[in-house]
Amino acid sequence: MKRVLKWVGIGVGVLAGLIVLGLVGVYFSSQSRLTKAYDVPQASLVIPSDPESIENGKHIFQFRGCEACHGENLEGKVYLDDPAVGKVISSNLTTGAGGVGSAMTDSDWVRAIRHGIRPDGTGYLFMPSTEFFYLSDEDLGDVIAYIKSAPPVDNEMPPSSLSFVGRILMTLVKDITFIPAELIPHDAARPTPPEVGITPEYGAYLTQSCHVCHGLTMSGGVIPGMPSSWPPAPNLTFGAGSTLPTWTEADFINAMRTGLTPSGSMLRSEFMPWTSYQFMSDNELKAVWAYLQALPEIPYGNR
Ligand code: HEC
Ligand code: HEC
Repeated sequence: MKRVLKWVGIGVGVLAGLIVLGLVGVYFSSQSRLTKAYDVPQASLVIPSDPESIENGKHIFQFRGCEACHGENLEGKVYLDDPAVGKVISSNLTTGAGGVGSAMTDSDWVRAIRHGIRPDGTGYLFMPSTEFFYLSDEDLGDVIAYIKSAPPVDNEMPPSSLSFVGRILMTLVKDITFIPAELIPHDAARPTPPEVGITPEYGAYLTQSCHVCHGLTMSGGVIPGMPSSWPPAPNLTFGAGSTLPTWTEADFINAMRTGLTPSGSMLRSEFMPWTSYQFMSDNELKAVWAYLQALPEIPYGNR
């Protein structure tokens, strides 16, 4: 009996040792990713300051979802505090107390929004720059013009942080990262933005963010990385399982503005962020509709 207990004791000890080693490994592996500096050259965008550009920058800031995270007055907020991920705290972008506004150069703004990197070259946590890498020089310039024009708001908050569970997830699951800079093709040639118009090409430019949930092909399905309480994303192509073939353009615009679908159900804004998309102009929503209609018809769930 004593011998059995001794071996059990040794087994438990070895196991505990391996777990500690594993956790130390997770810590150092995630730490080296969190502190990695990206070598992205200084940007030379000319930032406008005329009222029209600032107004357009505000429009983009609203419909691209920046406002939903950074707040109506750009004051920032605790967006999510969940032990499974960490503290997602969107920065105060103004020049008020706790804001980053006074310290940022034009090049810093560009590198932050387009590449997801801090002035020291390390990657921001959670800030979804993967969606904004494709913004044209003109649109990005206008957004920065708007941010720089914002009145100061005092709002001091701690920085964002990744929980240990978040570190484990990011270390063990290949497709999960909370550092968007890891996914951005920093050295690739700048994509050429399409001309503004009611065209599928311009619609595609406006819908970078939809793919996160509706999938690369837009055919929908269960959204990877979201809690199981989330509904799957519907098929937005006109393929099998999609309701869109029964929609008119006016139905689509109405759904994106009010959340109300032609069947009478409401799109829940906590899952489907129409409260940001509602700010798109009629022509922008028409371009998105033209893009959806032009997509290959793919059956539901082939993300
Ligand atoms: C899902 C929420 C979310 C959205 C959408 C979002 N951000 Fe952020 N943003 C964040 C978080 C969180 C941080 C802080 C990251 C950190 O602390 O590492 C951040 C950081 C930033 C920074 C760097 C500020 C600093 O602390 O140095 C800028 C600039 C910025 N965001 C601008 C934008 C703009 C412009 C848009 C839209 C085009 C946008 N953000 C959309 C969450 C978001
Ligand atoms: C954060 C995830 C997310 C993003 C981003 C997102 N959607 Fe959705 N979308 C959903 C979910 C989930 C539903 C189902 C919502 C419900 O049933 O309440 C939905 C429903 C819809 C519907 C209704 C379809 C139907 O058959 O009823 C349309 C249309 C739609 N989304 C269009 C878009 C467009 C266009 C974009 C980008 C501009 C977009 N969505 C971005 C998650 C998302």
